[in-house]
Amino acid sequence: MASNLKIFTSLAIVCAILTVSMAGDPDILTDFIVPPNVGGPLDGNFFTFTGMRSLVGAPFPATFKVSKASMAEFPALNGQSVSYAVLQFPSGSVNPPHTHPRASELLFVLMGSLQVGFVDTTNKLFTQTLQQGDIFVFPKGLVHFQFNSDAKNPALAVSGFGSANAGTVSVPNSVFNTTIDNQILALSFKTDVATIQKIKSGFSG
Ligand SMILES: *[C@@H]1O[C@H](CO)[C@@H](O)[C@H](O)[C@H]1NC(C)=O
Repeated sequence: MASNLKIFTSLAIVCAILTVSMAGDPDILTDFIVPPNVGGPLDGNFFTFTGMRSLVGAPFPATFKVSKASMAEFPALNGQSVSYAVLQFPSGSVNPPHTHPRASELLFVLMGSLQVGFVDTTNKLFTQTLQQGDIFVFPKGLVHFQFNSDAKNPALAVSGFGSANAGTVSVPNSVFNTTIDNQILALSFKTDVATIQKIKSGFSG
């Protein structure tokens, strides 16, 4: 009985370790990956991303803005299973419901406050009002959002991702800003084609 429990516990730990180690991008067989177009001797510059410097001291954007440091912007991240995004929310702005197919997201509120939430696979909504200094995790692949409901103050957050290329699928955009047939959408949303057309018209242009 006791040894059965021991075996079960060991298996559970092994499974947990496997789950954790498989949570990121596939492992690479080298310390890092240098793209072929990077010439000359490698130094610290390759491992440095300066693209966020432009945010320092710049005026706050008038609409919600994401600035990414993922593999596309920062090639040294290839194979490292990490990336960042800086999220700027002027008052009243929203980051609409979306998913990241390849990563969990760890959001850190640096300034202001944010209403956040995600929906799990049983369709249960988890929400929170975050204040400056709070950290919230959005589990991998689940639909989530952030909203700055403050009438006066902007909010600033930094998100870390467990992938160099987390990917973003915007729910409104993928549903209403592609050429999915209006009738399919009308049936899916239990409404009529005119309503679908009206929603779609807000996305074009
Ligand atoms: C709709 O899709 C087009 C083409 O991908 C894009 O340029 C535009 O920004 C999208 N509209 C909205 C409101 O996201």
